Amino acid sequence: MLALLTSAALAENNGLAKTPPLGWRSWNLYGANVNQNLIETIMEAMVKRDPRYTVDGVPTSLCDLGYCDVGLDDNWQKCGHYGKEGYTYHDEDGNPIVNTDRFPSLKAMTSKAHALGLKAGFYGNNCICSDSKTGADKFYQGDVNALREFGFDSWKLDGCGAQTDMQKWSDLIKASAPTTGRKEIMVENCHWGSKEPFKPNRTWCPWNFYRTSGDVRANYGSVVGNLQTTIQYSTQNLSYPGCWAYPDMLEVGVLASPFKEDSGLTIAETRAHFGAWAIVSSPLTLSHDPNNQTIMDAIWPIISNKEVLAVNQAYAGESGTPFKQAAERVELAPLNTALVHPSMTVEEMRSVGPLAASAWQYFYKPMAWDGTKTAVLLMNHINATVDLSLSFSDVPGLACTKCHVRDIWHHADLGAFEGTFKATAVGAHDCVFLILTPA
Ligand SMILES: *[C@@H]1O[C@H](CO)[C@@H](O)[C@H](O)[C@H]1NC(C)=O
Ligand SMILES: *[C@@H]1O[C@H](CO)[C@@H](O)[C@H](O)[C@H]1NC(C)=O
Ligand SMILES: *[C@@H]1O[C@H](CO)[C@@H](O)[C@H](O)[C@H]1NC(C)=O
Ligand SMILES: *[C@@H]1O[C@H](CO)[C@@H](O)[C@H](O)[C@H]1NC(C)=O
Repeated sequence: MLALLTSAALAENNGLAKTPPLGWRSWNLYGANVNQNLIETIMEAMVKRDPRYTVDGVPTSLCDLGYCDVGLDDNWQKCGHYGKEGYTYHDEDGNPIVNTDRFPSLKAMTSKAHALGLKAGFYGNNCICSDSKTGADKFYQGDVNALREFGFDSWKLDGCGAQTDMQKWSDLIKASAPTTGRKEIMVENCHWGSKEPFKPNRTWCPWNFYRTSGDVRANYGSVVGNLQTTIQYSTQNLSYPGCWAYPDMLEVGVLASPFKEDSGLTIAETRAHFGAWAIVSSPLTLSHDPNNQTIMDAIWPIISNKEVLAVNQAYAGESGTPFKQAAERVELAPLNTALVHPSMTVEEMRSVGPLAASAWQYFYKPMAWDGTKTAVLLMNHINATVDLSLSFSDVPGLACTKCHVRDIWHHADLGAFEGTFKATAVGAHDCVFLILTPA
């Protein structure tokens, strides 16, 4: 019986996202302001080897670094009133209706992605013309047919409309795969931490990554709030190869977001955001304008840091989690947006309360199964400069008391330390990213 259950669990696995997927998606910067030309321009930028942007002296594209899955988000649909029931973006037979003024040919768009060596991401069960009447099978089937016909490789399934049955999606996607040249589809479950696999004692997961929170915003409080929502899944070991906990897309370089009230992140906060997503094994989904030189100049050292990306991509049984934090709390935002999602009532949203975090918080992620290589991120959540002290004996599973310390933001070996390492003058909302190995 146990053997049968185990093989059933494995059969659900589509073999994708063995490491956290890297890519780009439109929502955080562009919101609803998307069209085919814009997305194709972004695709070209993702593969461009611009001599200004190098790694070890070699011009390197974002896709060379792994960011190769370029996805649509909301607003490709032609919102309206269709059929007798007034479906908002499906016809009577369940087929989705594309806004061809803005997206003349989704098939041409995915062909362009493939010609450039990219994967193309689709988006479903949307929010902008969200439809509460589309729970019948024909709508799921119509969308799956469209996914295959347009030639997409991955799918973000949002939680706004009536199509929230992730098992049904998974089954239909599998059933629709061509028998020759079978193409698996990478699936993002975007249910804001309120649907599968959030049951106690879940032992399998057919979705390649799943949102753990409400939408991230371009301010430090939101980033820290969303980060905390991953902890319960790493603690239950529910974030692992093929099925990663995901605190949402990156706000890296998103200084002019469609949400005008957001302040954007400072460079220190951007480093902390990217470092935190890396160490908790989150998928890394960029959302900035890769054609904007000002933005690229500012964030390139962060998003192209191969040592940080290596921490994200490593796996040795633990997806990355805090192991020590300050007792002192700091309030970072008047509302904890991480816990707010569109399916809540206004009363529920009001009751969520402010976001507070520990003044400092230390994360670890093993990079070797025997404890001989461990990444540690020291985060300063206070809006002022502090010193942060790390005792090696606090780091779970670490195989040294005298350890060699490497600073991976600065690609610098700091030497061997006995028992303790002290990071001095860590800036406001900044972090220190270390690799520890036996000295
Ligand atoms: C989950 O597992 C724990 C530990 O094995 C057990 O105590 C608990 O009853 C289980 N919960 C459910 C809902 O099965
Ligand atoms: C690039 O981004 C900066 C910062 O958001 C903005 O001020 C500028 O207008 C952008 N440039 C272009 C060409 O979009
Ligand atoms: C967590 O789950 C993964 C996938 O099943 C497994 O490889 C890993 O060993 C588990 N880690 C622990 C600490 O049990
Ligand atoms: C952080 O401190 C700086 C200067 O001390 C101040 O301008 C800024 O508003 C503070 N930010 C927050 C989020 O409190």
